[in-house]
Amino acid sequence: MSELADQFHSLSTLLQRHHGDWQRLPFACRTLPWPELAPVLSTLSEDDLDALEAEPAAAHGLLAPYRSEVAAVHDWPIPTLKRASDYATPRWSSGIPGRKWAQISDFAANIHGHHPILEWCAGKGHLGRLLALQQQQAVTSLEWSADLCRQGKALAERLQIEHHFYCADALAPEAAGLFRREQQAVALHACGELHLRFLQHGVRAGTRSLTLSPCCYHLITGQHYQPLSTAGRRAGLSLSRHDLRLPLQQQVTGGERVRRLRQIELTWRLAFDELQRTLTGNDAYLPLPTFPKQLLSGDFAAFARWACERKGLAVPAQIDDAHWLALADERRLLVKRIELVRHLYRHPLELWLLLDRALFLEEQGYRVTLGTFTDMANTPRRYLLQAHKPTAAP
Ligand SMILES: C[S@@+](CC[C@H](N)C(=O)[O-])C[C@H]1O[C@@H](n2cnc3c(N)ncnc32)[C@H](O)[C@@H]1O
Repeated sequence: MSELADQFHSLSTLLQRHHGDWQRLPFACRTLPWPELAPVLSTLSEDDLDALEAEPAAAHGLLAPYRSEVAAVHDWPIPTLKRASDYATPRWSSGIPGRKWAQISDFAANIHGHHPILEWCAGKGHLGRLLALQQQQAVTSLEWSADLCRQGKALAERLQIEHHFYCADALAPEAAGLFRREQQAVALHACGELHLRFLQHGVRAGTRSLTLSPCCYHLITGQHYQPLSTAGRRAGLSLSRHDLRLPLQQQVTGGERVRRLRQIELTWRLAFDELQRTLTGNDAYLPLPTFPKQLLSGDFAAFARWACERKGLAVPAQIDDAHWLALADERRLLVKRIELVRHLYRHPLELWLLLDRALFLEEQGYRVTLGTFTDMANTPRRYLLQAHKPTAAP
């Protein structure tokens, strides 16, 4: 068994054993689901909980005595891959934000072959452009937005490089025809289904080199994740889209205003949940869809009327804001306590998803490495899977 397969096996066992910790809808809970954790969690104030959320290492330390094998996964070493030697910005990069430029430069530092390049879900093709310039290879960038393709094409013409855009849907069957054997295929931050297709098409074509930085694991076509690897299918984990969002639930950066709005949204959603349980007489969680932040600028009563209409409930004549908001304040603390435990599994679950992709490639005869290609400050989605198919012996 490869080292990656060993790790995958351990993670499958661990995630299965503790699925009651992370496969939960915190909004649906009205009491803490783990009595043994009550002594440590119930003493935490909201400020403590917010501070622990901002400092994951401290949260892992707090929970380690109760979930030692899960906390230990955070210490598994993951190789640091190559980084760009400098982040000097050429003139053509002027519209690219600094963190994006660092991601692209670091990704490119890990690509060094002698074959034409296919860039999957390219946006304006910034990565493809940098690779075309650095490697003097022809680059084809697949992207479905005509506007982004037009902008990328204009830049390629100005720079006089062999960089072509293929404006099409990556999920259409014809996209498979872009993959070749003697090719380096790259995908930076292609969402769920898009990067799963990238791997499947690449493997089918026997593409020599596949390099992928995955993101948005939950954006899949089905309701549940279908593992790619044989080992993944045998693991017996059933992952819903809600579960697949877990690795993406990072601490929100974005300043005081964003944090305040998040707090109001959480409170009002919970206050509405209390209200709807009373109105319907059904003690079950009723999820609300995402909504424009404008709705948070009025008062709770106005929000609750909108939510009742949205859910087809009779709107009460009077809504006692103070009553429902006080109930929500208690529930908010409970949600944060449950999230603290769930978040211990963000990394193990992401690692499991990455290793499922890695093992699929190994099963198909690829040599695979998994590591981080850029600094955390540039993006939390910084894992890189690199797969090379050795040339068959003559
Ligand atoms: C997260 S962005 C990444 C862009 C670029 N690789 C980067 O890292 O800057 C994903 C890109 O995929 C494109 N995309 C989304 N769905 C697509 C589809 N079905 N077919 C082709 N491109 C798609 C989007 O328009 C977007 O440009």
